[in-house]
Amino acid sequence: MLKKCLFPAAGYGTRFLPATKTMPKEMLPIVDKPLIQYGVEEAMEGGLSHMAVVTGRGKRAIPDYFDVSYELEHQIQGTEKEKKLAPIREIIDQCVFSFTRQKEMRGLGDAILTGETLIGNEPFAVVLADDLCVGNAKGVLSQMVDIYNQHKCSIVAIEEIPIDETDKYGVIAGDALAGNLYRVSNMVEKPHPSDAPSNLAIIGRYIFTPDIFDILRETPPGKNGEIQITDALYVQAKQGRVLGYKFSGRRFDCGSVEGFVSATNFFYENVYTP
Ligand code: UTP
Repeated sequence: MLKKCLFPAAGYGTRFLPATKTMPKEMLPIVDKPLIQYGVEEAMEGGLSHMAVVTGRGKRAIPDYFDVSYELEHQIQGTEKEKKLAPIREIIDQCVFSFTRQKEMRGLGDAILTGETLIGNEPFAVVLADDLCVGNAKGVLSQMVDIYNQHKCSIVAIEEIPIDETDKYGVIAGDALAGNLYRVSNMVEKPHPSDAPSNLAIIGRYIFTPDIFDILRETPPGKNGEIQITDALYVQAKQGRVLGYKFSGRRFDCGSVEGFVSATNFFYENVYTP
């Protein structure tokens, strides 16, 4: 059974400078909630209750956010404003949070390996909080948990992207199975459009079997000198143990200014209740 969700949140967020100079990218608000809270809520909807966060220097606002704020809560107790804190209080009450720090920003693969100490030897989900997902009938992670429960192998969420954007993503090749599923046969990190095996890009939702940690330990630095999760996943893919899932819903790349603004407009118009 899947219980744990890992949030790699140690990156510098350079695309959002100067805002991210002292503030974690994951704490940028979409309307009135920080990005990472949307990710945690999506994980909870998928039945996960252990939230493991990989932070780094300058990211203390994240553990503080998922903790009680006695002074503030005392101050607004009994006022209208109290209800604004109810959702985050519910999260704190229902979930277990644990944190560790990535010492050097050596890439997403290294961040996930850093999380091993919080995950242990069990399957787990990964959410990159700057990819904000809105599922159609149910949340994207919830959809993936259903697939994991049937197939018990690693799963990556994929999306069709314009071919000239392949150099921003991990890109897969695979054989189509039923129901938006692909058996992944190849994956390449940020290929030039002319080298891309398809236009199916991996987005920031994954489910991993725990042997990924042993594979990551053996994975040398790849593109940009970083430990790439795509390289480790490729080892599992060669054994036929990775599925790509074309999720039902919409994703906003909130690590970019354009995606962040689109998400803000979307959530303000369709989701936000004052
Ligand atoms: P990104 O590629 O978005 O990098 O990382 P970034 O540093 O966050 O942002 P930019 O590109 O400089 O603007 C994808 C995810 O992996 C995490 C990030 O926090 C983000 O959630 N990450 C990346 C780490 O935790 N550690 C790393 O060393 C690299």
